[in-house]
Amino acid sequence: MTEPILSIRDLGKSFGGVRAVDGVSLEVQPRETVALIGPNGAGKTTFYNMISGRMRPTQGSIHYRGEDITGWPPHRISRLGISRSFQINNVFQELSARQNVEVALLALHRKSLSMFRFAARDRAIREEAEAVLTRLGLEELAETRAGILSYGDKRLLEIAIVLATRPSLVLLDEPTAGMTPEETRNVTRLVAGLAETGEYTFLITEHDMSVVFDLADRIMVMHRGQRLAEGTPEEIRGDPEVRKAYLGEEVTEGEAAS
Ligand SMILES: Nc1ncnc2c1ncn2[C@@H]1O[C@H](COP(=O)(O)OP(=O)(O)O)[C@@H](O)[C@H]1O
Ligand SMILES: [Mg+2]
Repeated sequence: MTEPILSIRDLGKSFGGVRAVDGVSLEVQPRETVALIGPNGAGKTTFYNMISGRMRPTQGSIHYRGEDITGWPPHRISRLGISRSFQINNVFQELSARQNVEVALLALHRKSLSMFRFAARDRAIREEAEAVLTRLGLEELAETRAGILSYGDKRLLEIAIVLATRPSLVLLDEPTAGMTPEETRNVTRLVAGLAETGEYTFLITEHDMSVVFDLADRIMVMHRGQRLAEGTPEEIRGDPEVRKAYLGEEVTEGEAAS
């Protein structure tokens, strides 16, 4: 086994009396896609917030490539190559899709670009932005103002902005939430393609079980802040505890709706 890219031990976060995350451990290998599932309130977003540095854990540790990053601020963590999907309001509505990616690239290259002349710099940034947009299938929308993009395309633009920071570890928090079935299939296909390049390790939270079972090499199930189960998609699908706590609930909801 290789050295894990991410090693989380006994991680916990309490808000007053509520243990949002309660002693969760997880190891992620380089180039793996790990899905984090669990009902609303299970602690998934809080788990992400601790990895990306937005929240300081109240217990446990986070190691990235062997380095203890527990409690580091977000800017230091993102510089290491850990990036999480932004919320939509981080997209500049008045700028084009391309300009939004360029803003992220300029922040990334701030230092190394100062030696270029303006024209050369602008051209290099523009080409890189166009390349990132092409990866997400957004090349034809590059000049469209972000504010008028469809909801699905805005969420893809967020992923483009995440990739512009050249992360190794990408955290996607419900990337298909609110999408149409077609948009969901498109995102699933794109993320699968990105995973196949071997450039990224993905942690994905997702409600749509078909997306989870399509993308994940491994699944961790959270329930009330704790790790209920962890395993391959087949193992998780067949786990009676999981079915009772989570998948069973989904089945019931689906049946109720039909
Ligand atoms: N900033 C916060 N302050 C207080 N409680 C919070 C905060 N963030 C999350 N929680 C609580 O922590 C629990 C886990 O929430 P969250 O991590 O958002 O779960 P999930 O993403 O799995 O739906 C919930 O009970 C939620 O109300
Ligand atoms: Mg959440």
